[in-house]
Amino acid sequence: MKIKIMPIKKLRGEMTVPGDKSIAHRALMMGSLAVGSTKIKGLPMSDDCNYTAKAFRDMGIKIRKELDVTIVEGKGLHGLKKPDNPLYVGNSGTSMRILAGILAGQDFESTLTGDAGISARPMKRIVEPLNMMGVKISAQCGGEYPPLTIVGGKVRPITYKNSIASAQIKSAILFAGLYSKGITKVIEPVRSRDHTERMLKYFGAKVKVSGKSVSIRGGSELKARALEIPGDISSASFFIVAATVLKGSRIKIRNVSINPTRAGILKVLSKMGADIKIINKKKPSPEPSADLIVKYSKTHGITITKDMIPSVIDELPVIFVLASLSEGRTIVEGAGELRVKETDRIASMQNGLKGMGVDFRVKGDNVVIEGSKSLKGASLKSFGDHRTCMALAVAALTAKGDSEIEGAQSVSKSFPSFFDTSTVYLN
Ligand code: S3P
Repeated sequence: MKIKIMPIKKLRGEMTVPGDKSIAHRALMMGSLAVGSTKIKGLPMSDDCNYTAKAFRDMGIKIRKELDVTIVEGKGLHGLKKPDNPLYVGNSGTSMRILAGILAGQDFESTLTGDAGISARPMKRIVEPLNMMGVKISAQCGGEYPPLTIVGGKVRPITYKNSIASAQIKSAILFAGLYSKGITKVIEPVRSRDHTERMLKYFGAKVKVSGKSVSIRGGSELKARALEIPGDISSASFFIVAATVLKGSRIKIRNVSINPTRAGILKVLSKMGADIKIINKKKPSPEPSADLIVKYSKTHGITITKDMIPSVIDELPVIFVLASLSEGRTIVEGAGELRVKETDRIASMQNGLKGMGVDFRVKGDNVVIEGSKSLKGASLKSFGDHRTCMALAVAALTAKGDSEIEGAQSVSKSFPSFFDTSTVYLN
């Protein structure tokens, strides 16, 4: 699907964004493995989360909706049944990688499969540690690509020093560790988003966090809980950047996740000169949230260092857009993980922004962007990637002249109502 985007002058009003995708996956997973009924408020109806829910339904878990509450009838750590067919997770990397850790602990053989996009995404990063835990996993091309066939049941605890800061890898290992006898520990180079460890604790697992390491003691049952999923900061980031660059803008985004391991964009944008106020903070249960007020502001380039990358990894495409419209140079260091997302997001954003007239250079894993006063409307491509699509849509809103984006249906992965939200709030 192609979408035409015309520039607008400013953004004003109040809005909400769908529930946080990362937190939602975990809520469905914990709810399914807990004993009793878990009640989840604010679960997003996006493709990725629907695939996680479907996978658990295929393993005998009842998940139903009553108004805005999703009820998961958990059957305990050993209550999943062997699925009749391979579990299909579409394009959802989070579903595939974390589910692999859960399936590692099951007394049955299972297969995880997905669409063409996910079949080209690296899986060795979870296959290797799970193999070390004694789990047999076979994958394609020397253990790198899906489908994954998992023979679970006997899991050994390990201490795993990861060279990549990745919450998906950490979560797969922690879930597998839940099924072992003993303590499993993951040590990261930089702390990745901590939704799994927060939620495991909330559901009663024995989890300890110390600096960059997280450990879990296997064996404890999870107890069903009620929880509310705040709005997704990654989805909010498109509107935060749009309001920052369009003169005269003022928006309020209600109830957004502000988890510090995740919401690095708030720090990065403030450093660049953005005007963002965080109000009505709510205490973690298990995730903190707040309302954000964003006003137009002049911004300038900064250097984003490698240690900051994990907390802004999904927001980098839209940060590239802001950098393109900020004064001076922005350098993003060590952004190599962007190359293995739904598409190579360094290449996809370079393609789009260069087409709009931006000086966007790539040196190894570093990106260097020279800010310009304005962008020009262009014919753009999402490369099937939701965040490339939404980031370029923001760029197009600010451009001189109309733009079109090919592959606009990709937004259904995390934010199906993105273009409707834009129609309602941006005009
Ligand atoms: C996610 C972790 C990140 C992120 C992805 C969601 C998660 O991936 O990019 O969109 O929910 O755990 P990595 O773990 O590969 O860094």
